[in-house]
Amino acid sequence: MNKELSNKSVAGFSKLSKRGKLKWIVNNFFKDPEHVMKELSSYWFKDENDQKIIDGLSENTISNFVLPYSVAPNFVINDIEYAIPMVIEESSVVAAASNAAKYWSTRGGFKARVISTIKEGCIYFMWPGDFKQLTLHLSDLDAKIRLASADITANMETRGGGILKIEFIDMNDEEPGFKKLNIQFDTCNSMGANFINSVLENAAIVLKQWFEFHKLQAEGQDNFEIIMSILTNYTPQCLVEAYVECPIDQLTDISGLDPVSFADRFYKAVRIANVDVSRATTHNKGIFNGIDAVVIATGNDYRAIEACGHAYAAKSGQYRSLSNCTLDNGIFKFSITVPLALGTVGGLTTLHPMAKRSLELLGNPSAKELMMIVAATGLAQNFGAVRSLVTTGIQKGHMRMHLQNMLWQMKVTPEENLAVNDHFADKTISYAGVRDYLEEMRNRPTLIKD
Ligand code: MEV
Repeated sequence: MNKELSNKSVAGFSKLSKRGKLKWIVNNFFKDPEHVMKELSSYWFKDENDQKIIDGLSENTISNFVLPYSVAPNFVINDIEYAIPMVIEESSVVAAASNAAKYWSTRGGFKARVISTIKEGCIYFMWPGDFKQLTLHLSDLDAKIRLASADITANMETRGGGILKIEFIDMNDEEPGFKKLNIQFDTCNSMGANFINSVLENAAIVLKQWFEFHKLQAEGQDNFEIIMSILTNYTPQCLVEAYVECPIDQLTDISGLDPVSFADRFYKAVRIANVDVSRATTHNKGIFNGIDAVVIATGNDYRAIEACGHAYAAKSGQYRSLSNCTLDNGIFKFSITVPLALGTVGGLTTLHPMAKRSLELLGNPSAKELMMIVAATGLAQNFGAVRSLVTTGIQKGHMRMHLQNMLWQMKVTPEENLAVNDHFADKTISYAGVRDYLEEMRNRPTLIKD
């Protein structure tokens, strides 16, 4: 290995101080170490304690990565007014959510309801024996698991949650010998990942002892083997519905379309997302633009929410739209049903200073209320995107927002900014077009004023 390459590997990186880590990184990976060291450390919080909290969330931290923290006001959900915090780097998303929120605030607002809040975890094991033998002694196992988990579940039980149902599931048809013990949970206002995983790992020990106690053996073999114990992020029973509805003739103020034509085009666009996977993926991506932004702002796990949402979208065997539109009896109804395993206590929600503020901004909601807020934001986002798609197209609004980013990158003066905005007010915006216009403007001879 040559010297240049060997400089890019290190032993004991995690043991270095934060400054030491940063120094090693800038010295070995950047052309101007001094400048980059200054730049990356300029994103550290001034308050050391605040910085320690952020550093403690991960490992090997050298700086903070900043994203915009925005607010979408004018949401009315179940007759309560909200200003919704959104963390997202993409332009137009917050504007679209805000516009949709305002549009529906004068048409009854969003309605939402939590359908159920069950979460699950699984202990996967191999055992080639007869499945009926397992179910025969299930009530004994159930009691033993609850007793052995009492220390872990006591606190959750005082809050009204804990272990719900315990059952065996035979996976033999998918893979010979594979089985799982499925445990359902109510984790109240917490997302509950740690709680569920702790109970599961404890229950796995009990399961093994229970096998030995009942001398459960497959004919001629006793090869019982636990493979793993883990919560599932697939939570189709932690489900929320949100919708907006109004008489079709109230769908006014849609650029270029009368209410009936708009309803018809909107309905068809949602149907396309229901039947065509190419469109469904983009359609749902738009929904998650809204969902993820609130999930991140409130310190929840957006990877879990995304993974579950997409799995749920494919529950019929084909990946489909998460939202639905109906036009029955002259009523336009646009709804979403989506699994959202969210928490408002514990984890990042209580640790991250901005997540705490987001929850305060939302009136410190329960997990159920947050599920409804997040679902409504996803639906608003989807309404905004589909509305643009079936009318003006998305590029018009999107590129107008993007223009500011381009001008920022091109380091324009305030006067140039005004002039470019003026020039492109009624024109198609493109990077090359803006760059050329700016160049042409800058090369114009300066006229002598009298
Ligand atoms: C872009 O981030 C999201 C959209 O493509 C969503 C959609 O097409 O529905 C605008």
